[in-house]
Amino acid sequence: MLRKTRTNKEQQETIRRRMAHIGQVLGGICRIAMIGLTVLAIVIGVAAALIAAGIVEPGVFSGVYARNPIYLLLRTIIAEMDERFIAAIGCTVTALTFLGMALLVRGLKRTMADTAISGKPFTHEAAKEIRRTAFIMLIGMLYNPFFGIALSLSLLLLSYFVEYGVYLQEQADLTQAIQEEMIVSFAEITENKSGQTGQHVKRVSEYARVIARELGADDETIRLASTMHDIGKLMIPESILEKPGKLTDEEYAVMKQHTTYGGKLLENVEGEVMQVARTVALEHHEREDGKGYPTGKKDISLEGRIVAVADVYDALTSRRSYKEAWEEDRAFDEIRRNSGTQFDPQVVDAFLRCREEISHIREMYADRE
Ligand SMILES: [Fe+2]
Ligand SMILES: [Fe+2]
Repeated sequence: MLRKTRTNKEQQETIRRRMAHIGQVLGGICRIAMIGLTVLAIVIGVAAALIAAGIVEPGVFSGVYARNPIYLLLRTIIAEMDERFIAAIGCTVTALTFLGMALLVRGLKRTMADTAISGKPFTHEAAKEIRRTAFIMLIGMLYNPFFGIALSLSLLLLSYFVEYGVYLQEQADLTQAIQEEMIVSFAEITENKSGQTGQHVKRVSEYARVIARELGADDETIRLASTMHDIGKLMIPESILEKPGKLTDEEYAVMKQHTTYGGKLLENVEGEVMQVARTVALEHHEREDGKGYPTGKKDISLEGRIVAVADVYDALTSRRSYKEAWEEDRAFDEIRRNSGTQFDPQVVDAFLRCREEISHIREMYADRE
């Protein structure tokens, strides 16, 4: 049975889905506000015409223009002007204000939609756009100063919320980048010191990625984590690592310890990829039938079971001082033959289904002679 952990990719996917959802909700709110403002603008515009034509008494629509600064100004400076005309002008100004606000909300709706669709939900550009809209929304003061200021401040607050989101996103990206750099350095050191000529680590991690993807697991995490599967070899004496012939029983017992050493090296390192790397370092020589090492356990993680197949396939198809590289067909048969005993049958099946891709990776990262 496949056991899956909650991985980076899944978490990112969940965040992306939530952001898309928030974007959709905000987009929906913007759409309703846009329609509402446009309808209000039309109704108030009609009201202005009715008031000017003397069909409706201005007092009926006093709520629309009573706090309108243009109306108040006109009433103060031109005392003799007919209230009907001043009210009609006030209504017209309010109608135009609402229309302008509807257009601004339309722009904001587009930004929200773009932001939600993109992989990175928070951007400086989106924050800047919202801030710009916040300032222009001060036109709402033409309807009612308090309303205009409140609306503008709310949008300003939203823009700072988006900026904070950008900051959090950047921090997360930085942590991920540092972790990946560390992993690559570790993998290079291991490869140089472990006496493995060529590109064993690169090939194993690529095979593991392909198998993980075939099984629907987090292929990127497994690819990165598996580059450190032999990191414990840093603690094994060079005399054993670089011995040209086959190892004696004693030497082999020492060599086997690279699994527990790897586990110890990665014990206190934080981060999800590093935790998977630790599991892989510990379990990549365990076997389905419990005859593996270091513990002989049968309850092996999916990552450990995947790297076990990838590692053995690469060992078989690579040249060693004591053996020639096997032909691909023979290596695939060997993996199939050991399905259910050494390897997890589901992992073997996935591996065999990707035969073409595995073969391509082998050619692409062939050993440099
Ligand atoms: Fe190993
Ligand atoms: Fe290995």
